[in-house]
Formats: sequence, C-alpha cells, structure tokens
Amino acid sequence: MQFEILAKCKTTRARVSRMTLAHGPTMLPTFMPVATQAAIKGLTAQQMDSLGITLILNNTYHLNLRPGIKVLQEAGGAHKFQGWKKNLLTDSGGFQLVSLSKFTKITEEGALFASPFTGEPTMLTPEESISIQHSIGADIIMQLDDVVPSLLTGPRVSEAMERSVRWLDRCIAYHQKSGQDKTQNLFAIVQGGLDLTLRGRCLEEMVKRKDDVGGFAVGGLSGGEAKDTFWRVVEYCAERLPDDKPRYCMGVGFAEDLLVCVALGIDMADCVFPTRTARFGVALTFDGPLNIRLAKHHKDLNPIDPDCPCPTCKSGMSKALLHHLVTEETVAAHAVTQHNIVFQARVMSGARDAILNDTFPEYLHTFFARYFKGAG
Ligand code: GUN
Ligand code: ZN
Repeated sequence: MQFEILAKCKTTRARVSRMTLAHGPTMLPTFMPVATQAAIKGLTAQQMDSLGITLILNNTYHLNLRPGIKVLQEAGGAHKFQGWKKNLLTDSGGFQLVSLSKFTKITEEGALFASPFTGEPTMLTPEESISIQHSIGADIIMQLDDVVPSLLTGPRVSEAMERSVRWLDRCIAYHQKSGQDKTQNLFAIVQGGLDLTLRGRCLEEMVKRKDDVGGFAVGGLSGGEAKDTFWRVVEYCAERLPDDKPRYCMGVGFAEDLLVCVALGIDMADCVFPTRTARFGVALTFDGPLNIRLAKHHKDLNPIDPDCPCPTCKSGMSKALLHHLVTEETVAAHAVTQHNIVFQARVMSGARDAILNDTFPEYLHTFFARYFKGAG
C-alpha cells in the first residue's frame, strides 16, 4: 500500500491523502458505502463505479454464511464475484457476531456462536477471520477484535481491549505467514470503550505494531454515546496514531459526524446509514435530511437538489415522482440510494478540496450553518 499525504489543514488536524491499493487509488478522507451481501442494496457494481466510488465495504460475517467461502474462492474472490473493479475492505466479523447474535460467547480462542442456519456451535478465531478475509481477497482486511457495547463500563471493557491487542498479534502472525500481506493490508482496531486511560493503553500497544499493519481503526464507538464523549475519544485516538498511516473511524455516517472526525484527523469512515435511510425514503441534502414520504412533497416537481450531479437529480426525477413511488416501487429506493451515496461523496470531496485550498474552517462553518437550518 502507498499512502501519501498531500495537504494538511493549518487550523484543524484534517489532512488530504492518496491511498493506493491493489485496485487503484482512493483519495482520503473518504466515506465507504457498505455492501453487506456483496452488493449495495439496489445498486449494481457498475452503478457504484459510475458514481465515482473507489472503495466499498463488505462483511466477512455475512459473506462467510452466504454465499460461503467455497463459492467466493471458485469465483476468484469477492471482487470478481460481485463484478467490482475498485478497492474493497472487509470487516472481520466480530462486531457483527456480537451485534447480530444473542448467543455469541467470547473466549480467548475466539468468538463462539450458533450458526443462524443450523444452530450448530461455530468458532470464529482471529486466524480463521483472516483466512476467510484472504479468500474474499479484500484490499484492506480488519483484525478480529473483541467488541463490547460502547456504553458498557467495568472490567469487561479492559478485558476486551487487552484481548483485542492479543488477537491483533495472532492476526499479524497468521497474515504474515500466509504471504498475503503483499497484496492485502491488515488494519488494527483500537478498543477501550469511552475510557481514555484504556484507549491510551490500547494505542500504546498497537502503535508498537505499526510496521506490521497498513493502518489503524478506532472501534467501539457509535453505540449511543453522547456526541462530546464520542468526539473526545476520536480526538484522543487520532492524535496518538501515527501520521503516516490511514485512520479509520468505524460505523460513522452522519455528515456532521464525518466532518468533525475529518477535523480531528480521521481519513476513512463507513456506515449503513445513508443507504438504509434511502430505502425509508430519506434523501440527504446540504439543507439536512429530507423525508420524501411527507405529503408536502407530493406536488413538488423539483429534483431533490438541483445542484446534485447524481443520476437521480440530473435525470430530473422530481420529489413528487419519488414521493409517489416511494412506498410502491423499489425504483424510488434505488434512486434515493444513488443520490445519498453521491451526497456523502460530495461532503467528503468538498472537505478534501477545502483542505487543499486551505479553506477547511470556512467549509465547516458554511456546511453547519446550512445543514442545521433544516429541510424537513
Ligand atoms: N463496526 C463498527 N464498530 C466496530 C468495531 O468496534 N469493530 C469492528 N470489527 N467493526 C465495527
Ligand atoms: Zn442527487
């Protein structure tokens, strides 16, 4: 992996960089749309590509269950399986195991869970998570981490943090032995809950492994904690992570949070929010989220955003049409999904341009003033 910093903001910790992976360059900061099941719901890989997206996220947990590793291997990896020619990142599965299965039990060996199909006990170890991610063939793979709810306090939080460090070592050892480390980049995930002392201990240990990883993620956030607590943890971590590696904040997707994270030195983020909310008829705009289901849109023949370059707005699909279709036809969900993905990309490309032009503070000011005036 090549990681070059092109510009740094003089006021905040924001930076612009170019990360070059096996499937081409991606400019950072960036937002990664989530293609849980080897597809962004409602969009083809070609559509994603034509929207200018160069990095998406798949989930190891879901792909391992369906279609399964055999099919992915026979296809020649997840890129070929889903017809995606650009960069791909896979999450390790630990987070999904804990958030989706009530029966997951964490031991030192790994995460023990009941298969959702057969009910059979199944163990996901750090080595196995990496092995599955090798078969998937993503350009960035994530360590298996021990994830606890972000609001949890007490000894389980420090245990999970310390275990995440030990599991990182097992992931590094397995990854390096496989030889896949030439093409696939392993990222560490900083844990430690909302406790800065624990975060500090985790950072200290993980940064020691800096030469063995491609980048660092901040995990364990976006679980309902107060915004200022969230910001403090992101700031604390970003400040202590090495300058010369990408920093990824997991599970962040609201535009306002993305921009604060960028200002704190974050380069990458992902979330299902923009694509999920699209399917509920919510279009994201620079005037705030717009609920296309509301009756007030039923006669509005304007596009969601006349300045938006997305295929939905450019082709002149009106709010009235989308309002009419939204509960009836899946095409409305697809149209709003495309718009929302382009919106996220515009927020981030706007940030990059502003950092490059040394106008990032003004960009933040203008964005927030307009966004919170409200659209409804
Ligand atoms: N997605 C959102 N948060 C997390 C996290 O803490 N760990 C992992 N592996 N994935 C996440
Ligand atoms: Zn649009």
